[in-house]
Amino acid sequence: RKPAGAPDKSLARPVTKVGVVGAGLMASQLALLFARQLKVPVVLTDIDQARVDKGVGYVHGEIDKLAAKKRLSPDAANRLKALVTGSLDKAAFSDADFVIEAVFEELSVKQQVFAEVEEHVSAECVLATNTSSLSITEMAAKLAHPERVVGFHFFNPVAVLPLLEIVRGEQTDDATLATAFAVGKQLKKSSVLVKDAPAFVVNRLLTRFLGEVIRAVDEGTPFEVADKALDPLGLPMSPLILLQLVGPAVALHVAETMHQAFPDRFGVSENMKRFVAAGKTAVYTWDATGKPQVDPEVAALWQ
Ligand code: 3HC
Repeated sequence: RKPAGAPDKSLARPVTKVGVVGAGLMASQLALLFARQLKVPVVLTDIDQARVDKGVGYVHGEIDKLAAKKRLSPDAANRLKALVTGSLDKAAFSDADFVIEAVFEELSVKQQVFAEVEEHVSAECVLATNTSSLSITEMAAKLAHPERVVGFHFFNPVAVLPLLEIVRGEQTDDATLATAFAVGKQLKKSSVLVKDAPAFVVNRLLTRFLGEVIRAVDEGTPFEVADKALDPLGLPMSPLILLQLVGPAVALHVAETMHQAFPDRFGVSENMKRFVAAGKTAVYTWDATGKPQVDPEVAALWQ
């Protein structure tokens, strides 16, 4: 069945090579997914060799784990590893048909990344962004070919969660959108077309949800009480563990984007800001029995 709003699939262009900008955890998960499902070469880039090596190392390590679980034969694992390479030079994208960025969540950084990529790729190469909350239209605005920019927003863990938000910017053309839907299908994701609005749909709802948990703690409810309150709903993980999975810095960025767009509806917790500024990535530490305990250093940050 054609997803709602998807253009005619005959407009989709083939994708025979993929570029990934960024070699952090999200970008590395994307590189693995694209190589595994599309079976095409995938090149990862980042700002220094150590990051590139770490990203490729992560992908190769995940492939080894799949092979150890017998989900891939040793031959298939080797073939898959050979598809994923790293480069410091975006010239490695010159024959790519689809480049996705998953770099720092800052509009100017993403605009600059796309401007650099555009110097190396053909006019038809799709430029996709995994942004969680930023405007696709603004990200494309200064490019020579803004019509090839599309939002392609995945959810963590990328290998497991089926949803893919595809975002059409004001100038995104039908061929780009059709290619995005075709790639989403090849990746075996359930693609939905969403409006180019702050935080799209999922993160808009998630920001409200996580934001209210943080607000309850800000107002004096103990972390554990606020975090367990919705257990009876059978959530796959509690809100504060989800916050750790998403990354508090990313969650804060999205909250700030929502606050700028809708100051009357979204606030930003000062305690959250302190938590992120302190470089903390989780509310909990795990004791020897595997039970989460609120990290006393985190609790001390809450005022
Ligand atoms: N990376 C890769 N695979 C993972 C993983 C990870 N980090 N965590 C779990 N998995 C895999 C496991 O290997 C297992 O695969 P298998 O069945 O093939 O062996 C499968 O997921 C299930 O894992 P478990 O049995 O260990 O654990 P659960 O059943 O509890 O599932 C979960 C784990 C899928 C992470 C589940 O807890 C969940 O769905 N949590 C909610 C996650 C969520 O809401 N994510 C969205 C965040 S918002 C976002 O990302 C947007 C961004 O813009 C902010």
